[in-house]
Amino acid sequence: MIQTTAIPSRQAERCLLCHDGPCTAACPHGLDPARLLRSVRFENAAGAARRLSEQDLCAGCSAPCQAACLRGDGAVEIREICMALHKSRPDLEELSRTPVDLSSEFCGVRLENPFLLSSSVVASSYDKIARAFEMGWAGACFKTICDFIPREASPRYSALSDGQGFYGFKNIEQLSCDSLEEDLEIIRRLKRDWPGKVLIASIMGRDEEEWTRLARLVEEAGADLVECNFSCPNMEQDGLGVDVGQSPQAVERYTAAARRGCSIPLLAKLTPNVGDMRPMAMAAKRGGADGLAAINTVKSIMGMNLDTYATSPSVRGFSGVGGYSGRAVKPIALRFIWELATCPGWQAPPISGMGGIESWRDAVEFMLLGADHVQVTTAVMQYGYRIIDDLLEGLTLYLREKALTRVNQLKGLGVENVAALEELERESILLPRFDRSRCVGCGRCYLSCRDGGHDALVMRRGRPVMNPKACVGCHLCVLVCPVHAISGYGKRIVPDGEENRLENPACQEGAT
Ligand SMILES: Cc1cc2nc3c(=O)[nH]c(=O)nc-3n(C[C@H](O)[C@H](O)[C@H](O)COP(=O)(O)O)c2cc1C
Repeated sequence: MIQTTAIPSRQAERCLLCHDGPCTAACPHGLDPARLLRSVRFENAAGAARRLSEQDLCAGCSAPCQAACLRGDGAVEIREICMALHKSRPDLEELSRTPVDLSSEFCGVRLENPFLLSSSVVASSYDKIARAFEMGWAGACFKTICDFIPREASPRYSALSDGQGFYGFKNIEQLSCDSLEEDLEIIRRLKRDWPGKVLIASIMGRDEEEWTRLARLVEEAGADLVECNFSCPNMEQDGLGVDVGQSPQAVERYTAAARRGCSIPLLAKLTPNVGDMRPMAMAAKRGGADGLAAINTVKSIMGMNLDTYATSPSVRGFSGVGGYSGRAVKPIALRFIWELATCPGWQAPPISGMGGIESWRDAVEFMLLGADHVQVTTAVMQYGYRIIDDLLEGLTLYLREKALTRVNQLKGLGVENVAALEELERESILLPRFDRSRCVGCGRCYLSCRDGGHDALVMRRGRPVMNPKACVGCHLCVLVCPVHAISGYGKRIVPDGEENRLENPACQEGAT
C-alpha cells in the first residue's frame, strides 16, 4: 500500500497540528511542513511526499522549522520526517497519471465528492458551512431543525484522549438553538450561494403534524434531502430522538409523516442504541424513506470523578447518559453499516455512513461495507474543516493505486467478507511469525501469552521462543508487541499434522 510509506510517524504524532504552524513560516524553502505533518497524521504520507520537489531541500538545511516548533518538550523532528517523505517520492510517480472521479449520485442527488459534515455544531450556521464548502466539503447535513428552542447544559462535552487526540467524545447537546425561521433562512442562503453543494436538512418533529410540516418547510427552503433524526440520545423530553429510533412502529409512522410533507429524497438517521438496526431500516422503508443514515451517537457515561463521584460533563455535580462519538465508535458504526447493507428486503440501500471517521482510510472502510458516502463531526470539532485536504487526496491516491476510476465502485466490495461466525473455518491455525531483527526482548508477548493467552512462549536468552505444541494462533502476541516484531503471517497449519507444525521455521527451537 502506498500510504504505508516508511516515515517516522511516531515523530509526526508529536506535532501539535497548530492552526497556523510557525514551522511553515520559518521554512526557507517555501515548503509547508505544517501541512506535510498533518498529512502524515491523517494517513496520507503518500500525498505529502508527492507535494515535495524533486530535489531534497531539507538535506543541508539547518532546520529553522524545528527551532520554531511550539512543542515545549523538544521540537518535532520535522527535517527527518520531510527527508523520509522525500525518499519515497520515486515510488509514487505512477500515481499521478490515472484520473479518478470522486463524484457520485445519491438518491438522485449529485455529490462532488463523498465527504459531508454531519448534523451537529460543525454544520450549524451559514458562515461555518460556507467556509467548509469553500474548503472542499461536498455537502452538509444541517444541525437538527425543530420547532422549539432546546435549553442546553454547560459544560456539555467530555473526552477520553491519548497521544493522538480524542479517541472517544461524549456530548449531551440537543438540537439547533436557532428559531425555525432563522434555520430556514440559512438553508435558503446556502442553496442560493452554493447551488452545487448538497444540503441535507435534519429535522425532528414532536408529532406527526410537525414532522410533515418541517419536511415541507425545509424542502421549500431549498434543501436537497431530508434526514429524519430518529436517534439523538440527549433529548430532555420523552418521546423524541432515540425513543423513536428504538421502535419500528414509531420510525414507520414518523417517516410516513415526513414523506407526506416533501417530495425530495428522505433519509432515516438511525440509532446504534438497539440490538439490531434492520427492523428500523425496514420500518423506514415502509414509511417511504429513500435511504438511511447511521450511526448517531452511542449512549454512554463518561467516567467517574474519584473525589466528587460526579461523571462528566459535570453540570453542578450531575451529568446524564449522553452520546458517544469519535474514533472509539467506528467499529460499532461499521457493524451497523454492514447490517444495513445486508438488510433482507432492501437490496444495497443508499447509506450515508458516519461514526468515528477521521481519515480517508476510515471513509473507505465505510464504503467497502456498503456506505455511499460519509459524514463527519467529531474529527472536525477537534481538528477543523481542514481535514478535508487529506480526505480528498488520500482517497484519490488510493483509488488510483487500486485502478478504480470512480469512487462509487467501492460501495459494498467488502460486504461478503463479513461472514456468520459459524461459517468460519476452524480446522487450521495461523501461526505468528517472529522477526529476530526487530525484537528488542521486552518480553511483553511472553507476559501476555502467559497470563492472557495459551502459555505458548518462553523467554530464552532474553528473547521469546514459541512452543509450537501450545500455540493456538490467537495472535495476542502480534497485537501486544510494541515494536511490531511479530506478524500474523506465519504458516497456516492443521494441528493434527504434527510434522506440519515443525515445518514452520518460526516454531523451531531457538527461533525468535
Ligand atoms: C456535539 C455533537 C452534536 C450533535 N448533534 C446532532 C444533531 O443535532 N443531530 C444529529 O442527527 N446528530 C447529531 N450528532 C451526531 C453526529 O451527527 C454523528 O452522527 C455522530 O457524532 C457520529 O459521528 P462522528 O464520530 O464523526 O462524530 C451530534 C454529535 C455531536 C458530537
